[in-house]
Amino acid sequence: MVKVSQDGWVEAFAPAKINLALHVTGQRPDGYHLLDSLVVFANIGDRVRVRPASQQSLRVIGPMAQGVPADARNLVWKAAEWFGTPPVEIELIKNLPPASGIGGGSSDAAATLRALAKLFDKPLPEPTETVPLGADVPVCLRPGNWWMGGIGDCLSGAPDLPEYLGLVLINPGVEIPTPTIFNALVSKQNPPISNREFEGLGEFSEWLLTHRNDLEPAAIDLAPIVAEVLDVLRREDPICARMSGSGATCFAVFPTRHEAKVAAGRIAEQNPKWWVQWASFYSDPE
Ligand code: C5P
Repeated sequence: MVKVSQDGWVEAFAPAKINLALHVTGQRPDGYHLLDSLVVFANIGDRVRVRPASQQSLRVIGPMAQGVPADARNLVWKAAEWFGTPPVEIELIKNLPPASGIGGGSSDAAATLRALAKLFDKPLPEPTETVPLGADVPVCLRPGNWWMGGIGDCLSGAPDLPEYLGLVLINPGVEIPTPTIFNALVSKQNPPISNREFEGLGEFSEWLLTHRNDLEPAAIDLAPIVAEVLDVLRREDPICARMSGSGATCFAVFPTRHEAKVAAGRIAEQNPKWWVQWASFYSDPE
């Protein structure tokens, strides 16, 4: 969603990306891995605001701003430069933990492109064009439910999910570098997603439980706290608990939003140092 305010800011929402399943099916000669994933978004995330300025600048604020670079190293800055629009003042409101498997940087970059496209009345790029900004940027360009293949650049629409479902997301505060996880994979040739059709809660639950995140075992080896987070989530009796992306954020899907809210409250109380949020699946109002 992109909003235009009276003081000249154009604001785009950068929702958290979740890989409901992530299968690694091969590796290209250039080292990038071939993925088969169902990507969805949660209705929590960062916000990116842009407005015209004489020179480019970036301010990072919000509860997760600490340690996030506020200069040309940040993917939102790179996205703005890559898009080639006139200079802008950028404000990034960081609510999601950085480098945590829920696409924070990629979703921020994609939101920057949406905001700039609106501000300068420019068409959004094609998803494949945005690969140079990061393999997760194409899927974040139009947040929705996507089957994601290739290295992240092959997208096709996935089924709607039951809207009453709830989500809990937990990040235990450890950063796991994505290349380290991919390099630590024991098997890089795993079976692809077996079934791309499901309808209603029963079939969706069955689908979730019969798919995987192939990066999860490697992440647990490097950061055993990921296993602890999954145990804590599973004790709340969700439909399924799994790691997203290369971690360390894990999610659980609950039959209702209310159950997710109650579980998140209990977990947050018992683990005050963890980032614990409850959410719904995001569907773009546009
Ligand atoms: O493209 P991005 O910068 O997000 O990827 C970070 C790193 O993750 C890459 O340099 C690569 O090591 C690894 N990666 C991969 N296969 C993918 C996506 C990322 O090996 N499909």
